[in-house]
Amino acid sequence: MTSPLRRPLIAGNWKMNLTLAQSVELAKAVKEGAASASGETAVAVAFTAIPVVAEVLRGSSVRLSGQDCHWEAQGAYTGEVSAEMLKDAGCQMVILGHSERRKLFGESDEQVNRKLGAALKAGLTPIVCVGETLDERETQKTWRVLETQIAGGLKGFAPADLSKIVIAYEPVWAIGTGKTATPAQAQEAHLFLRGQLKKLHGDAFAQGTRILYGGSVTAENVDSLMAQSDVDGALVGGASLKADAFKRIMAFKAP
Ligand code: 13P
Repeated sequence: MTSPLRRPLIAGNWKMNLTLAQSVELAKAVKEGAASASGETAVAVAFTAIPVVAEVLRGSSVRLSGQDCHWEAQGAYTGEVSAEMLKDAGCQMVILGHSERRKLFGESDEQVNRKLGAALKAGLTPIVCVGETLDERETQKTWRVLETQIAGGLKGFAPADLSKIVIAYEPVWAIGTGKTATPAQAQEAHLFLRGQLKKLHGDAFAQGTRILYGGSVTAENVDSLMAQSDVDGALVGGASLKADAFKRIMAFKAP
């Protein structure tokens, strides 16, 4: 179980899924599930669904998140959405540096770092994702990759700026594959990441920062993952699209 310093967070990442009507329906179910949630809950929805989901979640404890943002506040950036716009549309959080953005859209640590600045300036809580590919794991590069992503992504900020930041460890080989990291593998990586946070900004910062696990989290495996002392929550893809599964994940049981 996570330290009392860190309130657990279960975040659903809906990715590029759901119509407006489906988003509203699922948001209503999540809102209803919040009554029996074991910690904090958030949903990261498609840009188009933000206003309608914000309306459903109004007055509830469920946080609304974007899935990405641009690093500038406004301007000639066709197709992009800024952190300010997310905030204006009703978001409190934003996912940054998801591996799908890194892999499919070539996002770099430097870009993640600039986006982090924009998110913090807009008053959004950033969820910064890191994680190694299968090839990197098999060639013993996991720790180097995580160290580089954390150092590059968080570069140049003071601990006070990062007081609300959330880290998500998402091993790429576990995303959408049905292949979850074992609780021991997740714990090992989270402990390593906490060590990196300590190296950057000291023990109090490391102990106070939430680290979520993401990669094929389900209603069946959430409890064993949440039982690990450095796993402070989950970033859930596929299972967050199913109301019953996600409600069970929100109501995880950890010793
Ligand atoms: P899955 O839960 O579908 O593996 O996705 C994880 C993820 O990428 C969450 O951001």
